[in-house]
Parts: sequence; C-alpha cells; structure tokens
Amino acid sequence: MADIIQAEGLTKVYHGKVKAVDHISFHVSEGEIFGFLGPNGAGKTTTIKMLNTLASITEGRATVAGHDVAKEPGAVRKSIGVVPQELTADDELSGTENMMLMARLHHVRGSAATAKIGELLRLVDLEDASRRKVKTFSGGMRRRLQLVMGLLHEPKVLFLDEPTLGLDVQTRSKMWNYIKGLNKDRGLTVFMTTHYLDEADSLCERIAIVDHGTIKVSGSPAELKAAHGGDVVTLKLSGGADLTEFFSGIEGVSEVAREGDVYRIKLPRAERALPAIVTGVVQKNLEIQEISFSKPTLDQVFLDVVGRSMRDEEASESDSAWENIRMERAR
Ligand SMILES: Nc1ncnc2c1ncn2[C@@H]1O[C@H](COP(=O)(O)OP(=O)(O)OP(=O)(O)O)[C@@H](O)[C@H]1O
Ligand SMILES: [Mg+2]
Repeated sequence: MADIIQAEGLTKVYHGKVKAVDHISFHVSEGEIFGFLGPNGAGKTTTIKMLNTLASITEGRATVAGHDVAKEPGAVRKSIGVVPQELTADDELSGTENMMLMARLHHVRGSAATAKIGELLRLVDLEDASRRKVKTFSGGMRRRLQLVMGLLHEPKVLFLDEPTLGLDVQTRSKMWNYIKGLNKDRGLTVFMTTHYLDEADSLCERIAIVDHGTIKVSGSPAELKAAHGGDVVTLKLSGGADLTEFFSGIEGVSEVAREGDVYRIKLPRAERALPAIVTGVVQKNLEIQEISFSKPTLDQVFLDVVGRSMRDEEASESDSAWENIRMERAR
C-alpha cells in the first residue's frame, strides 16, 4: 500500500525554547489505522497540528495525501478530517448549526449538506438533541458531535486526537465501531491518539510510542508485545528434578524462574512452545499439576518504553520552560 502520510525529521520548537517534537520520521499506509501513543506532553498533539497545517513546521517535512504540508496547505486541508483534542463546537449554536457551519467551511452545500448532516447525526444518536444549543450537551454528546463534524466532507485521512476521552464504555465502543466501519468500507486512513491502550491494541494495525518528542518504538501491537514483555507460562510440577536448564533450552525461551515446584517461563509466543514443554515434562516422568499462560498487554509495553520516572522529570522540565516564557512575556 502507498504511504498516505510521510514525515521526515519533523521538528517543532515553540517560542525558540520548547522542543515539543524532535526530528521524528514515520509513514502511514493508505487504509491503515495508526496509533500515535505517548504520555502527557510527549508531542502527539503538536505532531497532529503540524500534519494538519495548524502549526508551522520548525524543521523537516511532511506530506499528507500526496501534498506537502508546508507548500500546499489548502490541498492537505481538503483531504483531511480533524477531531481535535480540545472541543471546538460553538456552545451558543445548536448541533445542526455547528454542522452547517462546518459544511460551509468545506464547501459542502445545499441538499447534499442537509442529507449528510442528517445521516451523520443519526449515526451518533444526536438526531433528537441536534436542535438544542451545544451548551446543553453532556460531555459525551459534545465528543460525538465533534467526531461527525470532522467527517462531513468525507476525508481520505481522519486525525483523531483523543476522541474518546471521558466517554463511557458503550459510547466508546459505538464510536470505534463506526470508525472501523468507515475504515473497512471506504478505506479511510485513521491517525489516532488515545490514552486508552486497550483501544489502541484492538484497533491499530501499527503503533508508534513517543516520548519527549521522539519515537521510542514502533510496530504492530503483537510485535511490540513480543519484544517488550513476551508471554509467561506458569507451570506447577509434581516435584522431582530441577527442570530449569531443560526449559531454558527450549527455542525462544528468554528466562526461567523457579520457586519450589513452580516455574515461570518467559518467551515470545507461549502457544508455540507449549508442546515442547509438556512433552519434556512427561518424558521425565513428572506430572503437571497446574499450567497457565498469560499474554502481555500494551500497558506493559508502554511502561517498559516510557517508564514512570521519566514522566515526573518531563513534567518539571516543561513546567520550568513555561515559567520562563511567562516571565519573558510579563517583562
Ligand atoms: N502553544 C504552545 N506553546 C508552547 N509550548 C507548547 C505549546 N503547545 C504545546 N507545548 C509544549 O509542547 C510539548 C508537547 O505538547 P503536546 O500538546 O504536543 O503533547 P501531547 O503529547 O499531545 O500531550 P497530552 O497527552 O497531554 O495531550 C509540551 O511540553 C507542551 O507543554
Ligand atoms: Mg495532546
């Protein structure tokens, strides 16, 4: 598949001081759901804003749908839908009026606009509420409205910056089902951020984890989990000889820990090694009393890559940078 987003050495420095994005390079294939994950302040929104032509690029270059972001911003805007992290719908307008305003911005007019607005509002269950002012909407209703505001002109690429933040489980799942549908039926490419790692795990074909403005790892969720956690087989035997050495010799096994008769075996794919483990135990005339295996989660990968302590350090660094800027402005 052709690349629909390409970024090369993309860098953003705010006010000549805060390096929010630091020479990142990546690509997203057409029709892919790509997850851009990272802790608070990692540079996710800044990257999205550069790709959306809403923030200038300090260094590097990017193309979206075949257009250079810096040189052809108009063409880029026509190809993309954006659901920003901060809600932008006008509180004093109704849901329908917000949609009409958005339609006009994208040159969708007349009966085509009315039909599309009706269809989208129905899809997110806002048909009845859409005549009310947005200020009377609940948080979930606002998010749902914001989503369909980004879809009016049938974009090729949809940027979703934490679209499900604060939504209840049913609404989240409904929203993702709809997005998955668009991805499958229309080949919509999705570039998304989320702090719900289970969502990213089930939706994204590929993921990049960013921190301090750089990409730390990227790959499919399965690849990342295999590399940064791996499966663990827990085995309780009937006693007898120490099998640590035997288990360590099985292909792919990276670590064996033994506590009495209980072994914990770390390996990338448990299901592949299970036959060798079980056969080996039986051949040694031992009995398996308990056996189970667990798969790693993306949370484990995230913690492994980003760590907790890094976050604390980041917070204080960016706080002091902001403090400097505030002081300078005050001067
Ligand atoms: N307009 C701005 N001016 C100065 N610094 C900014 C500006 N916007 C963001 N930053 C800084 O850039 C860094 C990256 O911020 P960004 O909003 O891209 O992070 P994020 O990964 O989207 O975080 P979150 O998960 O909290 O949304 C942070 O240190 C932030 O303080
Ligand atoms: Mg953000």
